[in-house]
Amino acid sequence: MEIKGLVAVITGGASGIGESIAREMAAEGAKVVIGDLDQVAVNRVVTEITEAGGQAAGVLANVTDENDMAKLMQAAVAAFGAINVVVANAGVIRDGVMINTDKETGKVRKVMPVEDFRFVLDVNLVGAFLTFREGARRMVDNRWPGVLIAVSSINKTGQVGQINYSSTKVAVALWPKILAGEFMMKGIHNIRVVSISPGYVATPILAGMDQNALAAITRDVHIQRLVQPSEIAAAVKFAVENDALDATDIEVTGGLCYAKSRAK
Ligand SMILES: NC(=O)c1ccc[n+]([C@@H]2O[C@H](COP(=O)([O-])OP(=O)(O)OC[C@H]3O[C@@H](n4cnc5c(N)ncnc54)[C@H](O)[C@@H]3O)[C@@H](O)[C@H]2O)c1
Repeated sequence: MEIKGLVAVITGGASGIGESIAREMAAEGAKVVIGDLDQVAVNRVVTEITEAGGQAAGVLANVTDENDMAKLMQAAVAAFGAINVVVANAGVIRDGVMINTDKETGKVRKVMPVEDFRFVLDVNLVGAFLTFREGARRMVDNRWPGVLIAVSSINKTGQVGQINYSSTKVAVALWPKILAGEFMMKGIHNIRVVSISPGYVATPILAGMDQNALAAITRDVHIQRLVQPSEIAAAVKFAVENDALDATDIEVTGGLCYAKSRAK
């Protein structure tokens, strides 16, 4: 699809990867709608895109809230008349091991609180589901063609210290095949579904990681650096433009080989 003139809704579009996707899509001539929890950051990104000659709107929205996701999609339609690209990008981490032991006694010292498990599932998994559902139902009803894009992660292969996060990211990477299959069953042929799995990307989310672990992981990256958000945005552009890309996941990791071990 040609990006110029499309309407793109991006959750978590006020920071990091989502912000970069919003800027890239707007620069290509899409009308961009950002849904995010951070009102100040939403305003900043919308203002900057608009001042650069692009078209953008922002909505304060929590992806875990059904009504917020409906309102976000309604706002996109009200502002720009359609929805063509839906990027389920908002995501969080809350890292920790399930069982933590005392170094001296070997006995359990601490366990991962269920709140830390549920919080990540709620944002990354339920939030992505609601984003896709509320976007897709309007696209189907109005026969608006387009693509649903989930932001997964290379950690879908299983990263120690991220049982919650990795569980959500492996799940959303399955959705392109599931949803493209469901759309086939229902005779919906004009909405593609893709996921993109970044490696470690230089964004604020990484501040929540153990920095020693991050440094060790970066040494396993073939290109020996973090991926830039603009490199993920370039993959989103490719996914929108290439009509043959469907029911699949694209990894953009800089060559993350885990040469030695996943346990850092
Ligand atoms: N940075 C990385 O290394 C990396 C790697 C792989 C995948 N990812 C994924 O990319 C996506 C974006 O991550 P990022 O690195 O840009 O993070 P980020 O922290 O820079 O941005 C995340 C954005 O999501 C918003 N957000 C958080 N919870 C929300 C909610 N409940 N409702 C609405 N908005 C919410 C935040 O306000 C923020 O603007 C996430 O899904 C993340 O898991 C990131």
